[in-house]
Amino acid sequence: MNQTESRKDDHIKISLGEDVQFNHNYWDDVRLIHNALPEINKEDIKLNTKLFGKKLGAPIIIASMTGGYKKAKEINENLATAAEKYQLGMGVGSQRAAIENPNLAETYAVIKNYDIPLKFANIGASQIVLWGPKKTLESTKKIVKMIDADVLFVCLNFLQEAIQWEGEPHAKGCLNAITKLAENLDTPIVVKESGAGIGYNVAEKLYGTGIAGIDVGGAGGTSFAAIEHYRAKMKNDKLHERGGKTFWNWGTPTPTCIMEVGDATKWELPIIATGGIRNGLDVAKALSLGAKAAGMAHTLLKPATQGKNATLAEVETIIKELKAAMFLLGIDNIPKMSDIGVDLWI
Ligand SMILES: Cc1cc2nc3c(=O)[nH]c(=O)nc-3n(C[C@H](O)[C@H](O)[C@H](O)COP(=O)(O)O)c2cc1C
Repeated sequence: MNQTESRKDDHIKISLGEDVQFNHNYWDDVRLIHNALPEINKEDIKLNTKLFGKKLGAPIIIASMTGGYKKAKEINENLATAAEKYQLGMGVGSQRAAIENPNLAETYAVIKNYDIPLKFANIGASQIVLWGPKKTLESTKKIVKMIDADVLFVCLNFLQEAIQWEGEPHAKGCLNAITKLAENLDTPIVVKESGAGIGYNVAEKLYGTGIAGIDVGGAGGTSFAAIEHYRAKMKNDKLHERGGKTFWNWGTPTPTCIMEVGDATKWELPIIATGGIRNGLDVAKALSLGAKAAGMAHTLLKPATQGKNATLAEVETIIKELKAAMFLLGIDNIPKMSDIGVDLWI
């Protein structure tokens, strides 16, 4: 295994074996207002929606997680089975590993065997800065083709780059690199964070770049600082072990990100709410704040390592919870979800 492959392996093992969640989940600070007279029948509730021109069976995205080492193929297959059955969006993890070693492409490309309505390719923002415009355009075309992606996620992960021992914290020129790529790549780009959040100021800058949407990737769920804390611990690297602990809870809460990004972009760019979504009730909360869909990583990771049935069962449960929440709000379709009232304690 090269360095990129073994890092992918570490991330999955640590996410499964240790508690790497934020100390507080901010979705607990959002309260939906109960409707004691819903005046609808639960069986009539429709979850279908449209995102980036694609029809989804429910407003749920399986967040970018893995690919690039052997075991990842099976995890992606299990996730793809659920994305196909429930017609959800699905991302794969950063495809840099397959650019470095084309033999790894099949660990991502396996999802092409499934009928998934909206597929997201993935590359880290620091990578496109390092590559420069020519290699970035060539490589992003390759990774899009690798999975027949509809959209490319460019992931801002500077928290991780700043605190991991082999991190590449090159952020200078990043906005320009995103702008150039959005101009030249035929595939739409969505900029995402990976757990520290995109807030007002960054969204305002991204708004002018020609991107198609923002995945806020906010704080409250998986903490990459926590993951790097445990990676450093495994290597007996005291400096980075300490850094991971210090920045464990760094970031802007996901519910706050949704509202700030919406305001900064005049609610014109679709927002995906990822970060701490644990169940269908959290999905309902995200939609009620104005997100078009909710993304889930941690919640689906364990079932995805257990098998297809476990993954299908988890997604079915999430969908049932979302329907129950909508019934208790008296809302029978997804577009109406952004019109309802919420109480916020943040
Ligand atoms: C094991 C693991 C690997 C991840 N790898 C990537 C990645 O390669 N690219 C990316 O954009 N995000 C990656 N993420 C971040 C997720 O897409 C998501 O933004 C983050 O985990 C917050 O969601 P959660 O709280 O539901 O876990 C990864 C998350 C996990 C748990």
